[in-house]
This record gives sequence, C-alpha cells and structure tokens, in this order.
Amino acid sequence: MLTIIFNNFDFMLSFLPAIIIGVYLYTTWYYDYWSKLGVKCPWSPVPLFGHVFQSITLKKHFMEVLEDIYRKIDDEPFVGIYSMRTPEFFIKDPEIIGKVLIKDFNYFTDRGSLNNPKNPLSHNIFQTGGERWRTMRQKLSPTFTTNKLKYMIEQIKICSDSLLECINENFIKYSGQMEIRDMMGKYSTDVIGKCAFGLDLDTINDPESEFRNYGKVTFQPSIRAHVIVSVFLTQPSLLRFMPSSFQPQKSIDFFRNAFQQTIHHRIESKIERKDVVQQLMKAREDLVLNPALNDKDKFSEMDIVANAYILFVAGFETVSTSMSFCLYELALHKNIQDKVREEIIGIKSKNDGKLDNDCLCDLQYLNMVIKETLRRYPPLVFLTRVVTKPYTLPDTNITLENGTKILIPVRSLHYDCKYFPNPNEFDPERFSDENINKLHPNTYMPFGDGPRQCIAKRFAEIEMKLALSEILSKYEVLPCEKTQIPIKYIIGSFVNAPENIWLKFKPIHS
Ligand code: HEM
Repeated sequence: MLTIIFNNFDFMLSFLPAIIIGVYLYTTWYYDYWSKLGVKCPWSPVPLFGHVFQSITLKKHFMEVLEDIYRKIDDEPFVGIYSMRTPEFFIKDPEIIGKVLIKDFNYFTDRGSLNNPKNPLSHNIFQTGGERWRTMRQKLSPTFTTNKLKYMIEQIKICSDSLLECINENFIKYSGQMEIRDMMGKYSTDVIGKCAFGLDLDTINDPESEFRNYGKVTFQPSIRAHVIVSVFLTQPSLLRFMPSSFQPQKSIDFFRNAFQQTIHHRIESKIERKDVVQQLMKAREDLVLNPALNDKDKFSEMDIVANAYILFVAGFETVSTSMSFCLYELALHKNIQDKVREEIIGIKSKNDGKLDNDCLCDLQYLNMVIKETLRRYPPLVFLTRVVTKPYTLPDTNITLENGTKILIPVRSLHYDCKYFPNPNEFDPERFSDENINKLHPNTYMPFGDGPRQCIAKRFAEIEMKLALSEILSKYEVLPCEKTQIPIKYIIGSFVNAPENIWLKFKPIHS
C-alpha cells in the first residue's frame, strides 16, 4: 500500500515544476499588457492579484489602494494597473478625465459594471451600455424634472416628519445617543419608496421591513460578493458557472416580485402619479408593447422591473451615508453647525415655519456644507468607463482598444492638495459663490459627470436638504463617547460606508 502511495507521490512530484510554471504563467500572463502599449505601471504587479492585493485580501479598503496608486505616480497623467488579471487604465489628469467623461464621451459610453447575464435585475441603466442604456436613460430622465421634484417635496416632507418623530422617541429612550446611519437608511428607504413607487413603507417604525432588510443586504460586504468580484477580475468567463448575483437569491426574488406587483397594480387600477412608476409605465408602452419596434430594439417586461430595482437601490445607501457623514462633521464643527442652523431658522421663519422648493434653493450655506461633505465622503470613491471605440490619447501614440477599462479616482482627486488645499479640513467655504468658480474643472465629481452622471442628483440634494434642515432646526448634534474619531470604514464595501456613526442629540429650546 505504502509503495503505491510513494510511487504516486513520485509521479506527482515529477509534474510539480510544470504545475508551478503553469500557475505562474496563468497568474502573470497579461502583465506585459501596459508595457507593450508604452504605459507605465505604479509598481510591479503581484502574481494573480496585480495591484489590488491589499484590497482583495481585505487588508485595506479599495479607496486606500487607489490613494496609494494616486500618490505613487506623482506627475504622471495616467498609469496602467492590473485589477487581479484585468488591465485598467487609471487616469489622474483632470483634462483627460474631462475628455473621457464629457468631450469624447462617445468613445466611453459604458460603465463596465459586473453584469451577469443570468441575473435579470442587472439589465438596468447603471449596468447596461450602448444604445440600450441611451434609450432607457432618455425615457427615465423626465422623472426628475423641476416640476416633478416640486411634487415630490410634499412626499419627502411626510418621511422627514416620521424621521423626526423617531429621533424624538429614541431621544427619550436612550437619553439622546443614537446610531444615525441605520436611522438615515430607513429614512432614505421610505423616501424612495414613497416618491418613486408610491409605497408607504414606513421602515422607520417597522424593524421587520423586508424592503429595508433586503435593501441593506445589497450593500453589505459578503464572502459571496468578494468571490464573485474576484472571479470577474480574474477569469470573467467563469461567471456563467457562478450564482447569478452577489446578492442572495432571496433578495433578488423579493425585489423582482415587489416591483412587478407595484407596476401591475398601477396598470390595472389606472392610477396616475408624477413618479418613477409612471415613467416606467410610459417606458413599458414605448419600448415593450410598441408593435412598431423590431425585436432587437424591444425591451422586456423584466427590463422595466430591473430599472425599478436600480432606482430603488441606488437611492438609499448613497443618501443615507452622505446625510450621516454630514451630521458627523457638523457635530465636530460646532461653529459651522450654528451657522447652518441660523440660516435654516431664518429662512423658515420668513416662510411661516415651512420649507418649500424656493426655501430649499435659498439654503446656500447648507448647500455648501453638503458639497463639502460629498467632497470628503463621496459614496462612490471611483468612476468607471469602458472604451467602446478605439481611442488615441491626445498628444500620444497610445491607443486604448475596445473593452479597456478606465478608472477615475474621484476621492483621491477630492483629497489632492493641488486642487483642495488642506484637504483633511472640513471647510464649506471652498464652495462659496466666490470660491466655487476657482475650482479646477473635473476634480470634484461626487455625482460623476457627463451624460452618465447620476440621474437623480437634484432629487438626492432635495432629500438631504429637507431632512437635515428639519433635524438641525430642532436638535443640536454633538459627539458622544461612542463616536468614532476618526471614522472607521467598512473594508470590502463597494460604497464609502462607515462602520457606524453615533451622535448625541440635544433638543433646541426656542
Ligand atoms: C448623495 C446621493 C447620491 C450620490 C452621491 C450619487 C452618486 C452617483 C454616481 C457617482 C454615479 C455614477 C456617475 C458616473 O458614472 O458618472 C451615479 C449614477 C446613478 N445614480 Fe446616483 N447618487 C446619489 C443618489 C441617487 C439616487 C437617490 C438615485 C435614484 C433615485 C440614484 C440613481 C442613479 C442611477 C440610476 C445612476 C446610473 C446613471 C446612468 O448610468 O445613466 N442616485 N450616482
């Protein structure tokens, strides 16, 4: 018996050098891609992991890895990196960034997000590209016109009233100390449910809410998500053997059924509202049911549901983390908080204590505070694009071929002292009327830029302004013993999310 084992072991040992060479070749095969094009790398790639070893092994947040690359390359306008085995073109120069996002957008129309064809919910405007993205974007853009946003303010107001009631109850129960990130998450879930889909979710009072709980899962880092992203970056062809999405199937099924039912209920009961569902129903008429369209240009019922889904999930985590960071900074900067409050109370008192669209536009200092919050804490720390037509970089002989991935390090630009002096200081004055025009173009992009910038930028701004104004006119926010200073981020999360934000609320007696 032992002889057989040893003989087999000898046999396997004789293959070992070939196996080692094979593994080495597989894990380093593409690593001459950039040098062949004449593009520098920031440092030598690690076999298999390329330049993202520390984020894949969860030693660092991906934003820190981007920061390391950004700092390392000094005055280089761009470098080539490898995200595991995938070559990516990392751009530092704002002029080239402007060309990619805006001026030469037609060469970069796609985002290149992980898009598993088996997951029907991934056929949405965030994840698709080309003509199908363009068509759907045109159909959905009218959702957020000034007129419709004015109508939505009333709906948002109902949710911000519930948020204040919740703060009030928690204040009594927990002597003012609250973890605000989860609370803001419930508020933004309620807002998107109400304004976009006409649903009264009331997650703020319902700890069992499936919308909130399945929504949270979408953004939670998990081993499943980590493995799928690693496969996507190493050998994308293997994705077809993987689960359909990095979210659990239960969560996909829940959202698919919920949005399908909402849309069908509206159609059957002929309810008309100025909201996302209305716009999706119009898109359905024009793109799914339209007999004049040929099969290639037609969309499916599921494509409509996929877009309902993305408008729901893209909306709550971004808004809730931004609002939480804003309150955190205001708690640490009492002078700025007092100034914002003074502005809010002044404008409210001129308008019988109410806030309407005009008042929100007049809240200029609050606007500056939100802009500075999004500079320090952009929810998406980088933007991506994919080359969709070969593109020769101006004044070089470097041509990026179809399919090349582009990475734009938004957060690193926001922290570059060339564009934002003393970047670690929270200073809303950077965005005063006087200073805003001095900002270097294409260095401030919390909502992205160009034709693919955030479709709901103005909606998100109104949602944040309304809740922040209501909170700050009734409460002072202060740090407490549980407040993390500095903030600790969730490593492995693909949005810029804090582990928690604890603050103390103190009622203002006027
Ligand atoms: C503070 C709040 C928000 C921030 C900072 C934010 C940021 C972003 C960014 C950076 C992008 C990518 C832009 C690019 O690639 O150039 C984006 C895209 C998008 N966002 Fe937002 N977002 C916010 C809120 C929302 C809300 C509330 C919704 C939905 C109601 C939403 C829906 C979308 C959609 C659908 C896209 C894809 C647009 C396209 O590809 O055509 N976002 N957002």
